[in-house]
Amino acid sequence: MEINGKTKLMGLIGNPVEHTMSPVIHNTIAAHMNENMAYLPFPVKDNLNTAVKGAYALGVQGMNVTVPYKSEVMECLTEADELAKSIGAVNTLVRVEGGYRGYNTDMTGLYRAMQSYGIKIEKEKIVILGAGGAARAVAFLCAYYGAEKVYILNRSVEKAQAVSEEVNKAMGRECLVPMALEDYELLPEEKMLCIQATSVGLSPKEHEVVIEDDSFYRRIHTGYDLIYRPSNTRFMQLVKEQGGNAYHGLKMLLYQGVEAFEFWNQVKVSEELADKVYEVMKGEMHIEE
Ligand code: ATR
Repeated sequence: MEINGKTKLMGLIGNPVEHTMSPVIHNTIAAHMNENMAYLPFPVKDNLNTAVKGAYALGVQGMNVTVPYKSEVMECLTEADELAKSIGAVNTLVRVEGGYRGYNTDMTGLYRAMQSYGIKIEKEKIVILGAGGAARAVAFLCAYYGAEKVYILNRSVEKAQAVSEEVNKAMGRECLVPMALEDYELLPEEKMLCIQATSVGLSPKEHEVVIEDDSFYRRIHTGYDLIYRPSNTRFMQLVKEQGGNAYHGLKMLLYQGVEAFEFWNQVKVSEELADKVYEVMKGEMHIEE
């Protein structure tokens, strides 16, 4: 890559940012598409607002935002996309007149990852495991893209209830149904999509899963685990043992980056190039499948 007087700067704001995969994603796409840009991580310890204002003053075209600032950054924006506003979290800033517009490409990226596997949301019955920050965003996504019913199961049922209330109110329909995790036997006896959005199963506790019972997995035709480390979680194994298809979350990470890149550079990244970037990511993470 040659840096010259016309190189556009993009970056990532967060803390910590040392282990991010985003520079690999963006710099690989930029190299293949001959986009004159560079992407750098910026550890922001405090003064988020000053960092965003400073980036704007320096002419930075676009930023990603990661932990712990995805909600807080909304106060530093001039505008935000409708889905991002409902979710209350932003991971992508796009330069506009006077500041930045915020998007949540974590969720649109998840949607695109699921589409790439042929997984449908519209008119589907879906099970979400978890009701934390990630699960809440997934619940909004499912309702937003027209799921018929979303059963949200959580260890602390009151969190599932709070998320359901919030999403149903925002969408103006009774789409979400809160349930306690241990009540999974009350789920309809039919095959559904299940999105695993708890933190259980993350390396180094990769043998853990929130539900072990086969009778639960017999209801699942497809399992999508937001976790990608390990790349074959216990949840995925249990789905597959009962004949379902199962996927890990690395493509969500890929497509959140692809979508941000497309916003910043006003281009379309081909599926062929997305596949190439995915291979590079798998190589970096020592993931085979
Ligand atoms: P994230 O931002 O990744 O969503 P989070 O907001 O801390 O993280 O949410 C973690 C999710 O994993 C929650 O749904 C949590 O359940 P509780 O709300 O009951 O805590 C779930 N979780 C974490 N450890 C769990 C465990 N041992 N058993 C069941 N669920 C667990």
